[in-house]
Amino acid sequence: MKKIRIGVLVSGRGSNLQAIIDNIKKGEVSAEVAIVISDQADAYALERARKHAIPAVHVSAKGYKNRREDYDNALVQELRKHGVELVCLAGFMRIISPALIKAYPGRLLNIHPALLPAFPGLHVQKAALEHGVKFSGCTVHFVDEGMDTGPIIIQAVVPVLDNDTEESLSERILAQEHKIYSRAIQLFAEGRLKIEGRRVTASGGETSIDKFLINP
Ligand code: GRF
Repeated sequence: MKKIRIGVLVSGRGSNLQAIIDNIKKGEVSAEVAIVISDQADAYALERARKHAIPAVHVSAKGYKNRREDYDNALVQELRKHGVELVCLAGFMRIISPALIKAYPGRLLNIHPALLPAFPGLHVQKAALEHGVKFSGCTVHFVDEGMDTGPIIIQAVVPVLDNDTEESLSERILAQEHKIYSRAIQLFAEGRLKIEGRRVTASGGETSIDKFLINP
């Protein structure tokens, strides 16, 4: 199968990037990471990419103050230079402008550490604990112009335990993030995803209707 060229946008530690790289190496994802771009010069994600001989660049937002569109155009230029077909946001801590969305319509994914539409935005594990939900999880979705509002591709659910802290819950969710992002990319690469309104369906997949969870 042809490998889809992906561009990964990061700001920090890059554990999702690492999982994608590892799953590609294992042959579970038919993709090639063509470029990693960070808005932070010291993002560990850049080092992770370089260790695997993946082109990794820092595109600073300085000089683009109040000009989000211009900054995103600079990203688009870099992505196009590397022949990127699918853009994956993985801990990229900036709000995306229409410039990037229009350049990659239906080809821009994000991962969020909550079961959207619950708990969009930041500090979501804290919010989930404070709200007292019994389950949380993670979501991979297409990016639209809202904050964490785009059509949902895949979700994974984890239980929230009575003695959970923000850290322990984040860790449990992160382990699932590392699985579902690669799965979403593979579904995309295989051309199996169809977006109809807000609903995304994946052809050829089978979901057991026995997948119920009860907690406690
Ligand atoms: C993840 O929790 C992701 O869901 C969120 O930011 C975090 C990034 O972690 N968008 P990492 O940089 O991939 O380790």
